[in-house]
Parts: sequence; C-alpha cells; structure tokens
Amino acid sequence: MATYKPRNILITGAAGFIASHVTNRLIRNYPSYKIVALDKLDYCSNLKNLHPSKSSPNFKFVEGDIGSADLVNYLLFTESIDTIMHFAAQTHVDNSFGNSFEFTKNNIYGTHVLLEACKVTGQIRRFIHVSTDEVYGETDEDAVVGNHEASQLLPSNPYSATKAGAEMLVMAYGRSYGLPVITTRGNNVYGPNQFPEKLIPKFILLAMRGMVLPIHGDGSNVRSYLYCEDVAEAFEVILHRGEVGHVYNIGTKKERRVIDVAKDICKLFLMDPEKSIEFVENRPFNDQRYFLDDQKLKNLGWSERVIWEEGLKKTIDWYTKHPNWWGDVSGALLPHPRMLMIPGGRHFDFEELNRMSHVNGPKLPNGKSKL
Ligand SMILES: NC(=O)c1ccc[n+]([C@@H]2O[C@H](COP(=O)([O-])OP(=O)(O)OC[C@H]3O[C@@H](n4cnc5c(N)ncnc54)[C@H](O)[C@@H]3O)[C@@H](O)[C@H]2O)c1
Repeated sequence: MATYKPRNILITGAAGFIASHVTNRLIRNYPSYKIVALDKLDYCSNLKNLHPSKSSPNFKFVEGDIGSADLVNYLLFTESIDTIMHFAAQTHVDNSFGNSFEFTKNNIYGTHVLLEACKVTGQIRRFIHVSTDEVYGETDEDAVVGNHEASQLLPSNPYSATKAGAEMLVMAYGRSYGLPVITTRGNNVYGPNQFPEKLIPKFILLAMRGMVLPIHGDGSNVRSYLYCEDVAEAFEVILHRGEVGHVYNIGTKKERRVIDVAKDICKLFLMDPEKSIEFVENRPFNDQRYFLDDQKLKNLGWSERVIWEEGLKKTIDWYTKHPNWWGDVSGALLPHPRMLMIPGGRHFDFEELNRMSHVNGPKLPNGKSKL
C-alpha cells in the first residue's frame, strides 16, 4: 500500500479537543512536517491544548476563521499547504437545537470556503474531512450490523444535518474538480482537553463538585466511545494510508448506555448512584444508538488500544489535575447548556445552575463550585 507523505499541513479547529491531540501527535512524531494550526478560538477551544507543540520549530498557530476566504487563500499560498485536515466545526448538539444558523455558517459555509480555496490554489494533495457517526442517524436497537461507509445518510438533528451537508460539498468537489478528498465518520471521543459541555467531562466536573449528574431522558441511549489518543492514531493512519475518494468510519463495537457511563463515574468518585443521578427532560430528539461497522479502518492497520476502564481513569485523573483549564465553566455544566453565541467569551444562562441540586451539602451562591 502506497504511503502518502505530506509536507505542509493545515489543521483547522486545532485548539479544540480532537484536533489538538492530532496536532500534538503529528508534531511529536513527524518533525519534518510543517503544521499550521488554524482556529478562531471559540468558547470551547483552548490554546493550552496546544502547549506540547507550541515551541516546536515546525508548528505555527494562526487565529482566524475558516469562513474568511482571504485568510484561507493567503495561508494556502504563503505556507505552501499541500494537506488539509479539517476539524473546525460547531460541535455541540444541544447548541444546535438553539442557534442552528451558527452550525450552518461554520460547518457548511466554512467547509465550502476551504474547498473553494483548494480549487483556486490547485495545490492540495489531500483534503481530510472530519465528519461524524451522527450523519447516519440513529441505528435500530436490535440491529446487529453497524452502518458501513456506503450506508445512507439520515441525520436527525441540526448539528448532524450540517455535518452531512458539509460532506455533500466535499464529495462534489472531489467529483467536479478532482480534489483528493477523504472523509472520516467517527464515534464519540473522550479524554483530556474536551470542553465540559460534553457528557463525560461534564459528569466528571459535576462529580468533582459533589453535584448530581443529570441524564437526558431515561439514560437508555447507547453510545460508543473511543479514547482521544486512539482517535489521534486513527487520523495518523488515515493521513498516510487512507485512499483518496474513500470514507472511513472511526468506530468501536463496544457500546455503553448513558446511565452506565454515569454509574461508572459515580463508582470512581465513591458516590452512591441512587443519590447522585437525576433524570431530566430529554433533548428534542435524542438518537438511541450509533452503531458503526469499523472493519474498513481496521484493514488499514488501526485498532483501538485503550480500554474504557483505563481511558476513564486517565480522563478523570487529567480533569482532577486541571480543574480550571477553561476558567469558569459552571454554565457548561447545566443539564441543557445553551451557548448564547455572543462573540468574545462564554455566555450561559446561569439561573438553571442554581436550581441544580448538590449531592452533598447546600447549594452554593451563583452556581460557584466548591473547588
Ligand atoms: N467530539 C466527538 O466526540 C466527535 C465525534 C465525531 C466527530 N467529531 C468531529 O470532529 C471535529 C472536532 O470535534 P471536537 O469535539 O474536537 O470539537 P471542539 O468543539 O472541541 O473544537 C472545535 C474547534 O473548531 C474551532 N472552530 C469552530 N468554528 C470555526 C471556524 N469557523 N473557524 C476556525 N475555527 C473554528 C473552535 O474554536 C474549536 O477550537 C468536528 O468536526 C466534529 O464534528 C467529533
């Protein structure tokens, strides 16, 4: 199998969760690759996520929006970019039930700008587009065969609809202009650097504060989780060995109910699940399950290494050591956090936080943590 050798890689959304692990891994393993990390530093990002790379001579960070055609064209030309790994997106499903226009703007229009810049500059040898398992829509509870890469896309929430929309543009630029595209569709990822609006870091931070863990609906929804380092390795494999024009699921067959995730976290914090879990109003639509066929990527030589018990312990350990990574995130710990999408910081409705009950002791004023 021929191995692709990139020279100058543009990684979008690099100060976010997954792309920071990919960036740090590539910088560590391939000193000959130049990496330009582009991020608009939205509320969920953190430059600290890129600390391991920041003093490497082959690393450069650029603050900017993928929606700016001038900036993207300029970067592709001046940095002689030959490879794009496109992670930047609005990623929180709960927010997409609120302000879904931001999702269309960043996820569809932003991707379109990148693709058009690739067409104009004509120098891109790989465009790796990062999509999600959610584009397939929910899998039947009793299905024994997972979605394979040729399955129909049936997104069921505004987030996944914009991700599916972006994929259509990527496919069209591959077909119309011969852009060498590869698309990935991943299961849920967990680990250090993940902004605590997402389930696992949110439950960990709540447990650290002695607060109850709110579960949407009855907790019977099933998700598949991969540890961030395994996913970073999957991108390393796809970058070098992925075939142009192909889609790769990044998945695991191991599934877990949301209620069991909460119970596992309670166990590690020595909390009684009976007293520490509460069931709250469900999302407007909450897919029951995303089940992927993971064979195609395995055929490229990748497989997951970190088992759940180990990954969860490592994640808890990291959040315990870095309780203030993003500053005050109490608004993100709400059962249904809704970012107000105002530029210049994080803006949440804090009133709901004060209504949340604590497992131990009284409520604290203004939702402030005990930490
Ligand atoms: N987290 C998961 O479990 C998961 C699973 C499957 C697929 N994905 C996909 O992986 C990618 C990364 O997800 P994540 O969870 O790491 O996201 P994240 O929310 O942690 O980070 C997204 C990053 O993109 C940046 N960004 C957003 N819009 C931008 C724009 N217009 N210009 C420049 N930067 C912008 C943000 O500032 C942020 O740093 C996304 O495309 C997501 O759809 C995520």
